[in-house]
Amino acid sequence: MAMASSLHEGFIFGVLYILTHNLSSITTTAETTTNASLTDPCYNYTILNDSWRSVNNTDYLLHLNFKCDTSFSWSGWYRLFINSQSAHVPDTCVEKGHCGSTTPLWIYGGHPTVEDGVVTRDVCGHWDNYCCFFWSYPIKVKACPGNYYVYELPSPAVFCSGYCTDVGSVSTSSASVTTATVTAYPFADPCHNYTVLDNLWRANSSQPTKSVSMCDRSVSWSGWYRLFINGLSAQIPDTCVQKFSCGTDTPLWIRGGHPTVEDGVVTRDVCGNWKNYCCYYGSFPIRVKACPGNYYVYELLKPTTCNLTYCAVVSSITSTSTTVTPQTSLPVITLLSGCASSGGCLQNVLAQIENITAEVLPLNIVTDILAMAFNESEKISVSSSSSSSSSSSSSSSSASASPAQLASSGNRVLKTSEKLISTLVKRTETSATVSFTLAAVEGQVFMVGPQVTLDKIPQLTTTNSSVDIDLIGIAKNSNEKSAAVAFMSYTTMENLLKADFFNTTNDTIKTMMSTVISATLPKTSNTALTKAVNFTFRHIREFEPSGSLSCVYWNISEWIVDGCSVLNSNSSHTVCSCVHLSTFALIMQTSSSPPESSDLLDLLNLVCVIVGLVFFSLALLSFALCQWSPGVNNVARINICISLLSAHLLLLLTQQFLSLIRPQQVLCVVIAGLLHFLFLSAFVWMFIEAVLLFICVKNLSEISSRQREVLSSGFLCVIGYLVALVVVCVSIGLVPEGYGSEQCWIKYDKGFIWSFLGPVCVILALNLILFIRIVIILKSALTKLNAEVSQTKQTKVMVFKTLGQFVVLGCPWILGFFTNGNEMLEILFLILNSQQGTFIFLIYCVLNNEIRQQYWKCFTFLCSGRKQR
Ligand SMILES: *[C@@H]1O[C@H](CO)[C@@H](O)[C@H](O)[C@H]1NC(C)=O
Ligand SMILES: *[C@@H]1O[C@H](CO)[C@@H](O)[C@H](O)[C@H]1NC(C)=O
Ligand SMILES: *[C@@H]1O[C@H](CO)[C@@H](O)[C@H](O)[C@H]1NC(C)=O
Ligand SMILES: *[C@@H]1O[C@H](CO)[C@@H](O)[C@H](O)[C@H]1NC(C)=O
Ligand SMILES: *[C@@H]1O[C@H](CO)[C@@H](O)[C@H](O)[C@H]1NC(C)=O
Ligand SMILES: *[C@@H]1O[C@H](CO)[C@@H](O)[C@H](O)[C@H]1NC(C)=O
Ligand SMILES: *[C@@H]1O[C@H](CO)[C@@H](O)[C@H](O)[C@H]1NC(C)=O
Ligand SMILES: *[C@@H]1O[C@H](CO)[C@@H](O)[C@H](O)[C@H]1NC(C)=O
Ligand SMILES: *[C@@H]1O[C@H](CO)[C@@H](O)[C@H](O)[C@H]1NC(C)=O
Repeated sequence: MAMASSLHEGFIFGVLYILTHNLSSITTTAETTTNASLTDPCYNYTILNDSWRSVNNTDYLLHLNFKCDTSFSWSGWYRLFINSQSAHVPDTCVEKGHCGSTTPLWIYGGHPTVEDGVVTRDVCGHWDNYCCFFWSYPIKVKACPGNYYVYELPSPAVFCSGYCTDVGSVSTSSASVTTATVTAYPFADPCHNYTVLDNLWRANSSQPTKSVSMCDRSVSWSGWYRLFINGLSAQIPDTCVQKFSCGTDTPLWIRGGHPTVEDGVVTRDVCGNWKNYCCYYGSFPIRVKACPGNYYVYELLKPTTCNLTYCAVVSSITSTSTTVTPQTSLPVITLLSGCASSGGCLQNVLAQIENITAEVLPLNIVTDILAMAFNESEKISVSSSSSSSSSSSSSSSSASASPAQLASSGNRVLKTSEKLISTLVKRTETSATVSFTLAAVEGQVFMVGPQVTLDKIPQLTTTNSSVDIDLIGIAKNSNEKSAAVAFMSYTTMENLLKADFFNTTNDTIKTMMSTVISATLPKTSNTALTKAVNFTFRHIREFEPSGSLSCVYWNISEWIVDGCSVLNSNSSHTVCSCVHLSTFALIMQTSSSPPESSDLLDLLNLVCVIVGLVFFSLALLSFALCQWSPGVNNVARINICISLLSAHLLLLLTQQFLSLIRPQQVLCVVIAGLLHFLFLSAFVWMFIEAVLLFICVKNLSEISSRQREVLSSGFLCVIGYLVALVVVCVSIGLVPEGYGSEQCWIKYDKGFIWSFLGPVCVILALNLILFIRIVIILKSALTKLNAEVSQTKQTKVMVFKTLGQFVVLGCPWILGFFTNGNEMLEILFLILNSQQGTFIFLIYCVLNNEIRQQYWKCFTFLCSGRKQR
């Protein structure tokens, strides 16, 4: 078979086989029940004409003479007769000792009508004090045309019981018995008037010990009960429970599922698992009510016999069987269409949330609404940050949000999310917790009640923060002896409640070091703190040792410190202590000048750069004023000096006035772009110089005048500056937000710095190759000695000077790669980089005979006042 050619297909085939096989078995069973014409039990039954089955037979009571249906072999459908008179199984309680067996069996739930077809009915056995003390296996019943019934009777579950027969009337009121609702309830709502049943042994995992088996019959039950296991809300299981669990051998469960809140009080049958049947024992039906807040109360009664105990499971285990959430009263938040611009959607969503009146909401609804609200709040914070960085994109339709607008949006988002999370708080007797995690917000709620057994509540944690609060103490002080704390951590809130809202007297750069968190005490009457609250923040950004940390809280429009302090801090975490609750964050202040440079380093830098600049200017002056060797092209060298001089000057000015420039984002970006351009063009010029030198060495003669014409004209200038300009433009085009770091330089994140380092590396590599070629050519030229010695010598000197320049200009940048944190290397980099001008001056001017002579001439001219030329 081609299908099974591969293992994978074989597997799929297997799954398909199983699926189709199961499907076909399902369809065939369906056929046997619906396609009744072939095997309609109304015409295909065994006659059961035992007069001893009659409800009127009391032989057992009179003579202890009885029969047992368990000792017969049963199969298929039966029609009942008593003395050849058509009869049926009674559908009302039969007296004990009737029907000629120890336990008379009758059907529970009434007879069907002909239209009902085949129905299933439970079977009750009267014993002791209760009509349904025992249950037998359910049987199938069909009403047949001609006013008779047929029954599919199995061997009963209950030892020595017998099916009863009766010729009297039948009740066709059908299954409504089991779901009868009691509407007129005389007492106050049992949802708020119940006794707590918190027996650990009721848990369905608790097995009875050999000697002790619990007995609910010895308890005097009264009124309504709510179940707990270990402080967690629990319910009576509504599916079969294992024998030998719930502290007894015969655990009780309820049949027919749990009601919903709208159903009100309903009555449910109670079953006990024993022997071979989940419902072997019956106990008195109990009343059940579903309460808002996802719990149930039960009106428990003394069970029919000892060894029967009411079982309890924690709700989540059987929550599939019923849902309590009232769908009708849940709030529905809708997004307006066409509100996309200027955060209108957010305002609308928040307004809708503010309109919610429900006190308690299910977790999934709360998280859905929160996800939607934060989705919208992200849009406004994104639009505000994008319009501030690229001013051109902010059109009139989407005006960028002002700080006041951001703060007010932040306030509303905080308020609504605190409102939403407070709907997760539910009444609890001991303690309970709820938590959720969304992309933008994480939350945790901890509730304690009057019967809490904990000494202190566990730390509430989210991914990047946690809180320690003395909730037990708060609960003890409140009237109801209960309290709840809601803790939230907002990942994106720093876009609204910016660190800049922290207003301090000294002018520092503020950085948010933690997620914004909020802690509140919802639905708690006395919110006074008994102990300071301690928050542990994980730093979400690199901590700079020179910075100072402040624990701050949000007061309407600004971050303030009052009442909060840093307890302790290490490189990755900070613990804050606050004497009140609200919305908190951790903000780092760093001084506006470059943070890592100490004062000494600053001074060194300043001096070095100024010295370098002076020599740059001197070299430039010399190149411009002094005429020298006409065979060598001066253009490249002059332009290197111009580029580097302007770059270093700009860098110096930027560093000195960073605090003034930094707030002007656009200026900062422009400066970063300009610096990028200037440094790059210096490198391009360095490359051009190497190329010129290469051409010169290759010819080892004077460059032909035409060549010189081309090379020394504006053409070179175009190349020298155009390449750098193109790189800068492409960088801006690809990553517009790459410029303008804290230092008004290229941003280091996302690898944008490679727009500078990349071209630099390429040029350095090309230059290296060129120099190697030049040295090789020069060597062979020297050995041949076929050129003028002076020319060769001059070229040789030129090559070594250019090589020196290459090393001086290139090496600092290579060093710059490795300075990461190492202070010695940083100082070395600083010196080498700033002294580029000095080196160039040394190499080209001081070590150049002609220029030295020129200097001498100028010097003597200035001193003697006589013209020497
Ligand atoms: C609470 O329920 C009990 C019986 O279940 C009833 O007697 C009592 O009156 C109820 N309490 C209130 C305050 O309604
Ligand atoms: C909030 O409720 C008020 C009054 O019930 C109503 O006028 C208003 O439209 C509601 N707002 C929203 C956003 O649904
Ligand atoms: C968030 O917004 C985007 C569109 O901006 C939408 O595709 C997404 O479904 C939204 N998510 C939620 C949870 O509303
Ligand atoms: C918070 O820390 C302070 C100082 O260490 C301590 O006195 C207080 O009990 C702590 N609070 C909680 C709730 O643990
Ligand atoms: C910050 O505080 C200073 C005085 O301390 C005040 O002049 C200034 O207006 C405040 N700025 C903001 C944004 O509140
Ligand atoms: C701000 O100024 C105060 C005193 O005015 C000083 O104690 C504090 O260290 C300064 N903070 C920073 C980050 O410079
Ligand atoms: C937690 O912090 C890390 C950085 O330390 C950050 O990448 C992550 O997104 C944060 N997670 C949340 C949920 O805030
Ligand atoms: C919040 O700030 C206002 C003034 O800006 C002040 O009156 C109020 O007391 C502050 N609230 C707290 C809790 O400090
Ligand atoms: C920093 O402090 C936190 C909590 O105070 C602790 O969990 C963490 O291990 C500490 N980290 C270091 C590197 O000491």
